[in-house]
Amino acid sequence: MNIKIKNIGEKDCVCRALVLPVLEGETGFYKELSPSLSQILAGLSSKEFSGKKNELFLIPGVSGIKPERVLLVGLGKIEEISEETLRQVGGKSAVYLNGLGLENMALSTAVIKPLKLSPAACVEGALLGLYTYTRYRKEKDGKGMTGITLLAAPSKELSAQIESAKTTADAVCFARDLVNTPANDMTPTDLAKASMSLKKQGVSVRVIEKKEAERLGMGAYLSVAKGSHQPPKFIVLEYGKSKTSPIVLIGKSITFDSGGISIKPSDGMEKMKYDMAGGAAVLGVFKAVAEAGMPVNLVGILPATENLPGGSASKPGDVVTSINGMTVEIINTDAEGRLIIADAIGYAKRFKPRAVIDTATLTGACMIAFGGEAIAMMGNDCVLLDRMKKAGEAVYERVWEMPLYDEYKDYIKSDIADIKNTGGKTGSLVTSGYFLKEFAGETPWVHLDIAGTAWVEKDKPYVPKGASGIGVRLLLKFIEGLSEVLK
Ligand code: BES
Ligand code: MN
Ligand code: ZN
Repeated sequence: MNIKIKNIGEKDCVCRALVLPVLEGETGFYKELSPSLSQILAGLSSKEFSGKKNELFLIPGVSGIKPERVLLVGLGKIEEISEETLRQVGGKSAVYLNGLGLENMALSTAVIKPLKLSPAACVEGALLGLYTYTRYRKEKDGKGMTGITLLAAPSKELSAQIESAKTTADAVCFARDLVNTPANDMTPTDLAKASMSLKKQGVSVRVIEKKEAERLGMGAYLSVAKGSHQPPKFIVLEYGKSKTSPIVLIGKSITFDSGGISIKPSDGMEKMKYDMAGGAAVLGVFKAVAEAGMPVNLVGILPATENLPGGSASKPGDVVTSINGMTVEIINTDAEGRLIIADAIGYAKRFKPRAVIDTATLTGACMIAFGGEAIAMMGNDCVLLDRMKKAGEAVYERVWEMPLYDEYKDYIKSDIADIKNTGGKTGSLVTSGYFLKEFAGETPWVHLDIAGTAWVEKDKPYVPKGASGIGVRLLLKFIEGLSEVLK
């Protein structure tokens, strides 16, 4: 995408479409642009267009101005406008105009300017909204939109904000691509290859193969891989030169979750290619952090494997030993995410991290509780939890904290091992978190369950249906905030 900043008047901008953001009830704002536009605006009934958030109204061929057409887009009430409004408005208008086959658009910032919000948020929304996944289509849908012009006074600050929006959107789209890719082309080996692609950006990447994982004692992780012919890949990324102890990001990377012997119903099973969305988000974060050269010390861990019911698959009732020596009774082979993350958390401890954050499509219960609107969060460190919550609000990848009461310990008590991998249906969102807490121990840790938010069934203003890339923007914001205070 070619993004330009131009300090010219709206009516002098040669473009296929001019986007005019409009506050609710203030449709007259742009009337001085041209007499005919002014006439159209004056004649608009509130039923046709009133400026409600994300409302669109296309005015073709306005005489007296250079843009070929004008798109009014509603911002909603002034007191409710936030950065999120701008992302949505940017996404909505770009997707709409792209759908009309237009190659470029210009965006007026006249109304946005006094709001003290950066118009770069509109650009971010547009870039995220225009994402498409075309790998398997013979007929790609044309080139689509290739240019966005911001009508604003150029400044170093604005250019930097646009650069950052581009980096972020690229990283989210990178993650979306990985998640949308079907499991036959996104095996653990493929995911390891995708991770290797970050080497050129200065990320060091190492893959722990099955043999070494055995030597390290990752019995919980390896028990999940037993039912598949695809070799597991335990991927470790490192970025940063600082001597301070790192933040470790763990991403659940089940490249396909059939449930294993506790097999899932076939209805909707095709979606379980998105069970590596946590891992993809971590890769997205590394891509953006490395591209921007952020001054942070990061470790990424992607325990990758398939969960299949092959002849040597784990069976309900099996007991396995995790990297920290704890034994786990596998009650349900479909509760595999916590097994691989348990070993990843155990492995993370060797980095003496100041924080371990895991992000995982861990439970169906998370989706049932929140639908697609919130990430379920659990953890053992108030400061980290609070920072994550604030980061979530800032980027609108909202998180909601769930309790890890001591009483939940009983739910996952095993009769024969140290712990069991499920506590049954009741409380299953929190017991999955409690299971991980037992492995985190004293290490400051936050768990993010993204099962409900990683896949979108219906287009949102800047999230086309399919993989959402959730977690990339959240973790980037979180890391940015943490590195500010820990400098
Ligand atoms: N990957 C699933 C969770 C999931 C379900 C993610 C639906 C996205 C959409 C996870 O591995 C799983 O199967 N969890 C089980 C755990 C249960 C057996 C305790 C679940 O939530 O049903
Ligand atoms: Mn499962
Ligand atoms: Zn799973």
